[in-house]
Order: sequence, then structure tokens, then C-alpha cells
Amino acid sequence: MELNKASRFIAVGSGKGGVGKTTITVNLCLELSRLGQKVLVIDGDLGLANVCISLGLDPEFTLEHYFSNQRRLEEIVIRGAYGLEILPGTSGSHHLTQLSEEQKHNFILDLQALGKDRDYVFVDMAAGLGSQVTFFSRLCPELILVTTPEPTAMGDAYGLFKVLQEASLKPQVWLIVNRAHSAWEARSVENKLRMAVRKFLGSHLDYLGYLPQDQAVMDSSRKQKPFVYEFPNAKASQNLFTVLYRLEGNELAASRNEGLWDKVLQFIHS
Ligand SMILES: Nc1ncnc2c1ncn2[C@@H]1O[C@H](COP(=O)(O)OP(=O)(O)OP(=O)(O)O)[C@@H](O)[C@H]1O
Ligand SMILES: [Mg+2]
Repeated sequence: MELNKASRFIAVGSGKGGVGKTTITVNLCLELSRLGQKVLVIDGDLGLANVCISLGLDPEFTLEHYFSNQRRLEEIVIRGAYGLEILPGTSGSHHLTQLSEEQKHNFILDLQALGKDRDYVFVDMAAGLGSQVTFFSRLCPELILVTTPEPTAMGDAYGLFKVLQEASLKPQVWLIVNRAHSAWEARSVENKLRMAVRKFLGSHLDYLGYLPQDQAVMDSSRKQKPFVYEFPNAKASQNLFTVLYRLEGNELAASRNEGLWDKVLQFIHS
């Protein structure tokens, strides 16, 4: 008898804005869906609808309809390619601060119920340390922290980690270094962050991989198309597979997918 796998609720966050959360979430979710996983992605940047914009979707109903009791949560879910399900954020300026504690509580319960039959639920969060981030972090036992090699982005990523710890939210934290210029640069970012959270917070994070600075990603974003399909042979698409394998617990496939150079770097930094 096959046991039901529990849904994995994974928030995608960053300290600094514009580091690639939405791009990574959307491409990762589509790839997981293509591989047969049941995936729901929540446009968690309430008010900005990042996910729908990046996929060129214009949903009729959004969380705005849910919050104003016009639609149930499952009624606003739309389907994208490969059956990927998307919960569209509001396109207005909706803030969780406008909701009562009871509404927030019910929203969490509804989200948990909605995600129950899925393999994965991803939340593409707003940047920073705001109330939306702590709200969604309560829903998700796992967090993918995205940073670029820029010192400000790294500092802000550390800040987010610290805030979640201080709020007693201690998710399993995964790190993706985006827009790296080399595997070496990505590894040294990971190393610095890993050392900092160990030394100052007594905690740890796990490296999922890196995406290079890649023109293919920019070109596909401009066309509102996922880069994994527009440019499947681009380095960013190849590296996304390493991330995906590692997330699925398949370290062997992940390290096979990484070049020899990445493996040497991993050895040096471990
Ligand atoms: N690896 C990459 N190479 C080149 N460009 C990239 C890469 N990753 C993301 N970008 C570009 O960076 C821009 C910001 O990306 P994205 O919207 O995914 O960031 P975000 O973290 O979701 O931003 P926000 O904090 O505003 O939600 C986009 O134009 C995207 O095309
Ligand atoms: Mg975004």
C-alpha cells in the first residue's frame, strides 16, 4: 500500500527585493508539475500579484474576492501549464494588517486545507521582514532563502533569518544564490552566510544550489515566459535541476548534475 506523502509547504523569501524569488518559484513549480508533482503556488506578495504577472495570467478572481467573502479559496485557484495550480494575489493594495485576527486564523486554516492534497505548496513572498512574511512563515515549515552575491542582499538575508528565529519560527532553511557570476562566487556566499548563522544564531542552513547571472532569464522574464521552457539548455535551466533534485532529497542526481568544478568547490567549502 502506498502511503500518502505529506504536503510540503515551502515559503520563498529574501531580505532584499528583486533578487529573483518569483522567477525561481515559478520555474521550479512548473518543472515539478511537469515531472508529475501536484503543485500549488500562492502569490504571497499580497497586493502585487507577482506570480500571475510573470506567467502573463490575468485571473478573473483573486484573494480580494476571498477576503471580501465573494469566493471560497478553492474557487479562485487557476491552472497553468502542466496542471500547476496558482492562487492569485490581489492586484490592489491589500494588506494583512487590514484583516482581523479571526480572518487571519481562518485564512491559515483554509490554506492548510487547500494544500492538503498537493505534493508541494509554494508561497512566493514579498521581500523583507514585514507582517506578510511572518504570517506565511507560520504556514510553512520550510523556507527557501534567496540572495544574490551583493553584500546588501546577503546582509538582508541574514536579517530575515534572524527575525524568523527571534519570532520563534525556526523553519528548515534552504539557500539559493541567484545571479552568481561563477560557482565559486556562489559557494563563497553560501559559506559566509552559513558561518554567520552558525556563529551568531547557533543555527544552520542547507545549500540548494545557485543560478548564474543569465541573459536567458532576463529575456524570458520580459516575454512573461518561464526560462526553463524558453531556454532549456541555458545554464540557469540546468542549475535549476540541481536545485530541484536537492529539494527532492536526491543528492546523487544533484551532484551528477553539477559539474566537476562545483563538486571540487563543495569539497573545499565543506
Ligand atoms: N539569474 C538571473 N539572471 C538574470 N536576471 C535575473 C536572474 N534572476 C532574476 N533575474 C531578473 O531580476 C528581476 C527580478 O526578479 P524577480 O521579480 O524574480 O525578483 P523578486 O525577488 O521576486 O522581486 P520582488 O522582491 O520585487 O518580488 C527580473 O527582471 C528577472 O528577470
Ligand atoms: Mg517577486
